[in-house]
Amino acid sequence: MADNSKLACAKKALSFVKPGMSIGLGTGSTAEIFIDLLGKANKEEDMDLVCIATSKASEEQAKKLGLKLAGFGIIDGLDAAFDGADQVDPEHNLIKGLGGALVREKIVDYRARRFYVLVGENKLVKQLSGIVPVEVMPIAEEPVRRELVGMGASSAPTRMDGGKKFASDNGNFILHASFPKIADPGALESDIVRLPGVVDSGIFTSRNVTVIVGKPNGFARVLE
Ligand code: A5P
Repeated sequence: MADNSKLACAKKALSFVKPGMSIGLGTGSTAEIFIDLLGKANKEEDMDLVCIATSKASEEQAKKLGLKLAGFGIIDGLDAAFDGADQVDPEHNLIKGLGGALVREKIVDYRARRFYVLVGENKLVKQLSGIVPVEVMPIAEEPVRRELVGMGASSAPTRMDGGKKFASDNGNFILHASFPKIADPGALESDIVRLPGVVDSGIFTSRNVTVIVGKPNGFARVLE
C-alpha cells in the first residue's frame, strides 16, 4: 500500500474520534500513522481520550505522543478500536497479525463497540487465503504445527526474527500456517483456537467492523 493510502484511511479514521472516547490503538504501519495523527490532534486540543495499546510498540509510541494510556481493566466500555489488517473479505472477515500482535489485537478489537479497520484497496480480497498467524505457547509448537497441517495448512513454519524464533509481546511463538483457501473463516477460527496450546489465531470474524479503505490518490471510502 502506498503511503498516501495509509495516510488517507488514517485521516478518515480520525474523523470518527470524539472527545472523551476510550480507544483501542492497533499495531502495524497503518495504525502507527493513525496513532501519530491522534496524538497530534489530542495535543492541539485536549480531547480527554483514554487509550489501550495492542502492543508494546504502540504503547511506546502513544506514550511519546502524550496520549493517556489505561490498562485492560477499562476494556468493557471501549468506544472504538482502530487497527490495520492484512486481508479483508466482502463479509469483513479479516486476516491480521503479520505484525505479530494478533492476541492483544483480538482482545481489544473484539471488545470495542466499533472496530475500525484501516486498509488500502490491495488488502480487499474475494476470499481469505494464505498465511494465518497462530500464536502458540512454546511447549505446544510442534504438536500444533502438525495439527494445523492435519487441518489443511500446506505448512506452518515458526516465524523467525534474525535467525531466532520470533517471540510475541506475550513471550509465545507464532506459526505461519498457509491455507490455500479459507472457505469458512468462522469455522477455521474456532477450530484453530480449540487446539490445546494455541493462544489465538489471526482470523478475525468480529461483526462490529467498519472498514476504511484508503486510496493512493489520498481519498478514503467507508464500508459499513
Ligand atoms: C499487526 O499484528 C497486524 O495485525 C497489523 O495490523 C497488520 O499486519 C497490518 O499491518 P500494516 O498496517 O503494517 O499493513
